[in-house]
Amino acid sequence: MSKYPSKPVIKWAGGKTRMLDQLSKYFPCEYLNYHEPFMGGGAVFFYLFAEINNRKAKAYLSDSIEEIINLYRVIRDDVEMLITTAKNHVYDEKYYYNIRSQKPSELCDVQRASRILYLNKTCFNGLYRVNSKGQFNVSFGDYNDPVIVNEESLRSASSAFQQAELSAGDFEIVLENAAAGDFVYLDPPYVPLSPTSNFTGYTAGSFGFADHRRLREVFGILQARGCYVMMSNSNTDFVRDLYRGCNTKTINATRAINSVATKRGAIKELVILSYPDSDTCQHLLPHQQYQFGSGILQAFAGGVRR
Ligand SMILES: C[S@@+](CC[C@H](N)C(=O)[O-])C[C@H]1O[C@@H](n2cnc3c(N)ncnc32)[C@H](O)[C@@H]1O
Repeated sequence: MSKYPSKPVIKWAGGKTRMLDQLSKYFPCEYLNYHEPFMGGGAVFFYLFAEINNRKAKAYLSDSIEEIINLYRVIRDDVEMLITTAKNHVYDEKYYYNIRSQKPSELCDVQRASRILYLNKTCFNGLYRVNSKGQFNVSFGDYNDPVIVNEESLRSASSAFQQAELSAGDFEIVLENAAAGDFVYLDPPYVPLSPTSNFTGYTAGSFGFADHRRLREVFGILQARGCYVMMSNSNTDFVRDLYRGCNTKTINATRAINSVATKRGAIKELVILSYPDSDTCQHLLPHQQYQFGSGILQAFAGGVRR
């Protein structure tokens, strides 16, 4: 049985499942609503959903990939129909290319969700990549009898999504609803470690330096509102410079997305916080209030999760 009650239903490049133990140490212990505008596989959301639902808080989840958000909406609203439909898929190369060639715009929402779930489970490395026309173009993956429909996992995700608002779009959408006391987790496509190491996946237009500067502005706006903002990114001078003055942590990461197997090793990543953690505010007494942005929030001191 998994250590966590619910987990991502799709494989996702840059997914955070293997880093939850390290990341969760820095989650705020108190927050109101939850926002994740680079949702992908949603590892952090699935880790937190039980407490989000227990608190009757809302989760605002989004990603720029419409197909993934449609899949999540269908899982939330029509999971049994999705299971029934997706069970008809077969693991076969010719069949795969036939499904891949379908146009999402010509399918109903359940068929679209079933298609993308199937492609995710059977394509090479579970990658999501589209060509300049927005057509999915990852090749067939070589697996030994892959599980396409995990009913238990889909039903569990369906209950996790019941209090979630799911939107497709650019990350700036987070500004629409995020308010003081909310927790915002930002996990953008990473700044490349070197000019040759950029992983070009996800969407037709890549996420470039201008987008990272735009994200920095959004981070600042959310911080000024009094949100607890946490961002993951690569350990590069560009990111360190951009977030100079913020509470920056270094954690260990294992990158799975590297075509050269020997280069899939332990590297460092950054976690950038808009709020203090136990290392940075030991001088505060637990009852003290910590002020940042426009809001006054309970000090985070001692709020580290173990
Ligand atoms: C590192 S992945 C997130 C992984 C996720 N945290 C997980 O655990 O699976 C980055 C995500 O950002 C999305 N993305 C890329 N550009 C975006 C944009 N401009 N606005 C919103 N999402 C974007 C990608 O589709 C991808 O799912």
